[in-house]
Amino acid sequence: MKKTVLFIGGTGAQGVPVVKALATDSRYNIRVLTRSASSKEAKDLASLSGVSIFEGNSYDEITLRQAFKDINCVFANTNGFAIGEKAEIYWGIRLYELAREFKVEHFVYAGLEYGSKLGNFQRKYRCGHLDGKGKVVDFISAQPTSPMAWSILTSCMYMEALSEFLRPFPDPKDPGTMVFTVPLGEGKCPLIYLEDYGAYARWIFDRPDQSNGLELHVATEDISWKDLASAFSEVTGQKAVYKDVTLDEYFKLGILDPDMIVGHSTDPNDSTLLTYRENFSGFWNTWKDNLTRRDYQLLDTILPTRVKSVKEWMEKTDYNGKPTPVLKDYRDRAAKK
Ligand SMILES: NC(=O)c1ccc[n+]([C@@H]2O[C@H](COP(=O)([O-])OP(=O)(O)OC[C@H]3O[C@@H](n4cnc5c(N)ncnc54)[C@H](OP(=O)(O)O)[C@@H]3O)[C@@H](O)[C@H]2O)c1
Repeated sequence: MKKTVLFIGGTGAQGVPVVKALATDSRYNIRVLTRSASSKEAKDLASLSGVSIFEGNSYDEITLRQAFKDINCVFANTNGFAIGEKAEIYWGIRLYELAREFKVEHFVYAGLEYGSKLGNFQRKYRCGHLDGKGKVVDFISAQPTSPMAWSILTSCMYMEALSEFLRPFPDPKDPGTMVFTVPLGEGKCPLIYLEDYGAYARWIFDRPDQSNGLELHVATEDISWKDLASAFSEVTGQKAVYKDVTLDEYFKLGILDPDMIVGHSTDPNDSTLLTYRENFSGFWNTWKDNLTRRDYQLLDTILPTRVKSVKEWMEKTDYNGKPTPVLKDYRDRAAKK
């Protein structure tokens, strides 16, 4: 019998590839919870066979109780950038509890690395959007694998961010050279190709015999930014360099507003919320100090067709470093302005 998967996490960068991967054949019905059925993203997803749109807010108990009716599986990607760390912990756990109450068969949580814990709770690794999901991952991992199966799909920065938040800029003194600037030192940072991310989500639902009780850490490649700049040059023929900067220098670049609060749909006076400066200091320190690990052999077994390197991704997608919108939150914010 066809299973119904409830996708919680909207119609953004992560939702689209996961829903598309689930809709590639007629094995699943997918119910997508989004605030607006009339957005372009929602209409595009609704045009796929097996996909239906459920309008409402993912962070509302009454809506969720409606959305959870007559489903078999859940994929949950809460948005810490919208609701902040505290609410992300609450809703991650609450979604698990609701899934148990509604007798869901398989609950899949979109996790992130628990940087603080991996860094022995040193303040330099404190990052709300990683730690919030990390705490939920610990909660879910402590639950039994029966009567409801659980899996965690732990990811990292999207490769596609190389066209947005991580994109290179021309060197003002030598405009023929593109500069990739991040505070990463010699760290190797994992990046994940979103289409493959969707395929891993699909595998998790297809193979509960293997994925129940598993936290799968996914990435395309762990790469140093020096190697990333070289890959860019090899693929595009354009000169490129990596510029390592301090956190202070990084926050002066204007890529992020360092004083903004992480949690655009929260009470800004909530003193638990971090600023982008605080949050992304911990974020970059986590990658700079190589605190996280992935099992690429396992990823090759699960998805033999996966894109295996940043260079391969650049070739496959004709990457040229030009800005392209990736995150729905960014697009929505720009549209409001
Ligand atoms: N950026 C990365 O490289 C990366 C990598 C791994 C994980 N993540 C995590 O992914 C999450 C963000 O999801 P995304 O990557 O898909 O981002 P996105 O493209 O910006 O989409 C964000 C989604 O959140 C929903 N949303 C935004 N504000 C909301 C609000 N006030 N109430 C309810 N829903 C709201 C939107 O849903 P609708 O508009 O459809 O309602 C939208 O689809 C974050 O937790 C982030 O940490 C990001």
